[in-house]
This record gives sequence, structure tokens and C-alpha cells, in this order.
Amino acid sequence: MKGVKFVNYKKKTVRDIDVKGKKVLLRCDFNIPMNGKTGEIADDKRISSALPTIHYLIEEGAAVIACSHMGRPKGEWKPELSLAPVARHLSALLKRPVEMARDVIGEDAKSKAAALKPGEVLLLENLRYHPEEEQNDPAFAKALADMADLFVSDSFGTVHRAHASTAGIAQYLPAVAGLLLEKELSVMGKALNAPHRPLVAILGGSKVSDKIGVINHLLDIADTVIIGGGMTYTFMKAMGQSIGKSLCEEDKLDYARDMISKARDKGTQLLIPLDNLAATEFSPDAVPIPVEGGMDDALMGLDIGQKTIALFSEAIRHAGTVIWNGPMGVFEFPQFAEGTRAIARAMAESNAITIVGGGDSAAAVEQLGFADRMTHISTGGGASLEFLEGLELPGIACLMDR
Ligand code: 3PG
Repeated sequence: MKGVKFVNYKKKTVRDIDVKGKKVLLRCDFNIPMNGKTGEIADDKRISSALPTIHYLIEEGAAVIACSHMGRPKGEWKPELSLAPVARHLSALLKRPVEMARDVIGEDAKSKAAALKPGEVLLLENLRYHPEEEQNDPAFAKALADMADLFVSDSFGTVHRAHASTAGIAQYLPAVAGLLLEKELSVMGKALNAPHRPLVAILGGSKVSDKIGVINHLLDIADTVIIGGGMTYTFMKAMGQSIGKSLCEEDKLDYARDMISKARDKGTQLLIPLDNLAATEFSPDAVPIPVEGGMDDALMGLDIGQKTIALFSEAIRHAGTVIWNGPMGVFEFPQFAEGTRAIARAMAESNAITIVGGGDSAAAVEQLGFADRMTHISTGGGASLEFLEGLELPGIACLMDR
């Protein structure tokens, strides 16, 4: 029986409390990619993901004061990081007016919040225009709280941040989860606390150093851990194989060796690529060269090979739950996208509960057209990773227990 470090993800949600006639401060993650040239929204998934909670609150008779950060202005009032385009887009999606405050806790926000009626929606300016937000300053948290009767967190993307609007505010208002956060917690929380087994975790991406805590934790709880992407080569080198000029984190070789022996001790199957697609240069025109085992000095690995695809797909086919975070290769170059596509396809075709951690793997699944065939695609980037480490995250711990 695999060990599970139990973290409480059973939190009260908007459905557990009476919101009628209440002013709700709704923390969203509207930190969305903008097109630098046109100033238009490049991907609105994080805005559309907030709609179910906003609709619910409006229909139940609450007034919604939405808030979010955008980018990292570090306390500076940078106009290019204003949430005004988000207010316009949200209004179009909701098919109702969304009022935009000109500040965050200033006179404009306070007077608009005070005048807000049930069914109306207001969006505050970028929370990070105030350095006090990231400092989790109690006075700033209280000023936000003073505008509302209730705090609803629907921002899974920031639950790993102990900021005023993600954690501090819960000192001053009753705090519950929104419907998006509820879904993230129930699907991902179950995968960690009580997974349908076998639990297969697939970890890719370029750096071992980004995934140290995640690999370590998943070796404790998963039945199989699969390593792909640029991380592969640090693991291959740690196992004594030649990796040519592939990406390698020399200072993580010992860690990789520790993880290999941990897998052995815990009885966790650890799968590392058997073959790779390599090239002589990192370029969109690079010619793929299939390589089995070690690589000669002129080559760098850029994707997993066919035997590895078959091995990994087989593990996915037998899984009860699959968690995937990080691409298998340089999927931005079409000739090195096959490994990532094959994993996405195997997940789409499997009967398992399939969970895609945010960031690059979520983008890959969207781009490759498999998004609607996954059980869940997380809206969190860094937050998903910290979640998969099994850590108690401040933006979740601060919510009321069920
Ligand atoms: C994200 O994009 O992952 C979240 O919005 C958190 O942003 P941050 O890393 O700037 O805190």
C-alpha cells in the first residue's frame, strides 16, 4: 500500500453558505496572456473559467466585487497591466455590464463597491499595483475586506501565494471556495489523497530543479512515475549513460540518483526513456535523428523516441489515474512534438481519470487538440506544481473546512 500524506482539501464552497444580498469579494486569476503588439487578450481561458462562479453568485442574489492581479508590476502603476481589457471581455462573456474601478482600495473602488446592487459586477484594478498585496499586509487585506461581506476564492493559480487577497483576507471575512477552485480541489485532491489506482504520474519539462519536490512526493504516492522532456538527460547521465550535448543539470545528478534509489526502496516503477529523437542543433529546422540508449557528443536529445512512446502509452493504458505535468520534448518544433502528442493521445484514449497540470502541458494539450478529452486541465501553473508536491497551500488552508 502506497503512503499518502493527507492534506485537507474539503473546504466549504459558495454552495454551502447563503450569499443572497451579500457583497462578495471574488478573487479570480485573471493573469492572462496579452498580445504585446495589439494589446488584445491572447487566451481568455482563465476569464471563461471564472464564469460559473460569477453566474452562480449573481443568480443567488449576491453583488460581485471581482479582483485579480495581472503580471508582476511590483507595486508600480503600470498602465499596460491594467485589468480594464479583462472587464470589457468579462462583460461580453457575461452579457451584462461589468463596472471597472479606477483603483484597488481607493475612493473610486470603495464608492463603486458601496453602490453595488445584487446581480451587479465590479472589477477592481490590478491588486499588485499595491506592494502591500504581495507583502500580505494586514491593513491592505482589511481594506479589501471592508468592501464586502464574504470572501470567495476562485483563483487556483494563486493558492500557493500567501498574499493579502489570497490568504490574509480570510482573517477578516468568512472565506469559501468558488466553483472553479472546488473542481480543482476535488479532482486533483482526490488524485493525491485517494487515487483510483494504478496512479501514473508523468513529469516532463526541461529542468529537474523545477520539479524536485514533485518527483519526490509522487515517488511516495504514485505506482508509476514517468520521466520525459529535458529532465530525461540528467536522469540518463545519473544512470551512467552518455547524453552528448543534451540539457543536463550537473548539480542535480546526485538528486536524480537519490530519486532512482528512492523508487527502488518504495517499490515505485520509475520509467525513463529508452530511446530519443536527437539533433545536432537546437533549431526549428533541426533534422530529427532517432537514437537508442546513449548519445554521441555531437547530439542533443529533443524528444522521446518510438519505443519510449510505446512504453509510456502502455503504462497510461493500464492506469486508473494519470497526472501529467510538463511536455515530453520541444513540442514548439513540429518534428519534435510527437512524444508530447502521443502522450496526450494515450491519455485522451484511456479510461483513466486524466489530469493535466497547468502551464506548458496545458498549452500543449490545447494546441494539439486533446483538451476536451481530458478529465481536468488545471488553471494553475506554479500552483499545480506546489499542489502536486503535497504541500499545504496558504490559499487553500485559509478557507473554512467543510
Ligand atoms: C500564474 O500565472 O501562475 C498565476 O497567476 C500566479 O502568478 P505569479 O507567479 O506571478 O504569482
